[in-house]
Amino acid sequence: AAQAHDYRALIEPARINSRLYYDPAIFQEELEKIWYKTWVYVGHTSEIPNKNDYVTKSIGPMPVLMVRDREGEVRLLLNKCPHRGNQLCAYQKGNRTSFTCPYHSWTFSNTGDLMGYALPEGYEGQSKAGLNLGKVPRIAIYRGFVFGSMAAEGISLEEHLGGAKAALDQLLDNSPTGELELTAGFLQHRTKANWKFMLENETDGYHPGFVHGSVFQVTSSGIGSLYGAESTALTRDYGNGHTEFDLRPEWRKHDKPLQWFGTTPERLPEYVKSMNAAYGEERAREIMIDGSPHVMIFPNLFIAEIQIFVLQPVAVDETIQHVTAVQFKGAPDINRRLRQQTMGSVGPAGLLLADDTEMYERNHRGAQILDPEWLVLSRGLHRERLDENGYRIAHSTDETPQRGIWRHYLNLMTEAR
Ligand code: FES
Ligand code: FE
Repeated sequence: AAQAHDYRALIEPARINSRLYYDPAIFQEELEKIWYKTWVYVGHTSEIPNKNDYVTKSIGPMPVLMVRDREGEVRLLLNKCPHRGNQLCAYQKGNRTSFTCPYHSWTFSNTGDLMGYALPEGYEGQSKAGLNLGKVPRIAIYRGFVFGSMAAEGISLEEHLGGAKAALDQLLDNSPTGELELTAGFLQHRTKANWKFMLENETDGYHPGFVHGSVFQVTSSGIGSLYGAESTALTRDYGNGHTEFDLRPEWRKHDKPLQWFGTTPERLPEYVKSMNAAYGEERAREIMIDGSPHVMIFPNLFIAEIQIFVLQPVAVDETIQHVTAVQFKGAPDINRRLRQQTMGSVGPAGLLLADDTEMYERNHRGAQILDPEWLVLSRGLHRERLDENGYRIAHSTDETPQRGIWRHYLNLMTEAR
């Protein structure tokens, strides 16, 4: 396909052209070169625990069915009827062995095969070949996280995740069973802003002290000090567009378990007991001090310690964030608390997400003013260094993650097909 834009002229190491956020032609090109090509997070196997369970998901704007078929295998089918293109399944989830299109009632098995036409007598002598549901060409699962790629060939999921895989492991270590159970349901926030503002903001440690300052004040949790100039937290660029806001150095300084969940062993005695039993006291204590990661897996999976956000761009100026609470499989007394905290911070009246959403919409409006045309991403450029694994790190307020995102974006947008 023809390249509509010279991306090298729009992206510099520490400067980004505003056009990248609002041009519909660029959005179309992103669908082709990012969303319908690289590995995209779709859903979690715990959402479809039983044979014949399904959930409706998406890869960018495209609707997808995540199904566990009658053999127990997880499949990703395109949620589009091959007859006249109707969206096949309209429900969010369920359990069924077949799907019937609401328009003319063609029926498909949950492996995607066309089982039969309604009123079959007009189709005598015609072949059903080519009339099955489309499939997401590649599917790969890492510890329950299901990813799909619309490109038949490309790097493996493991290679794509790279160092960010360790962040998923860090999250799962907080579960006494090592497993998640993402069954709390999803909140959906529809925002009139380009998806890349969210991608950049998720690991931005520069804004929280300002944008969320009032929240830190009213909750008097002391959490605000994590985001200032004194913070020992780090930003990290894992490569491949994956980024992190790493609070571990900050938590270790205080050396108190359960920092992250805002809890104490007195409040969550059963959880602490189950962690000690699973990992041994010493390791359990380490895990609980380090807490859960704050990592953005390019392009759409954001682990925000105790919430999971899935970004879904639907238009150049519209993005849906699907948010659910992290739930640990088999964990006794912590899951209820995690759900409550999720509602309090990112629910409909949540304190944190509302602040960020306002910024995204203001970002989007501002980007359309082309004076100045270039936006600045230079913070901390001079103090970037490499960590022991060779990943770029800098101070928690530095724009190392954002520069990493754009470096990867430029690679994808200029890659020869
Ligand atoms: Fe699905 Fe006609 S569009 S049966
Ligand atoms: Fe924020």
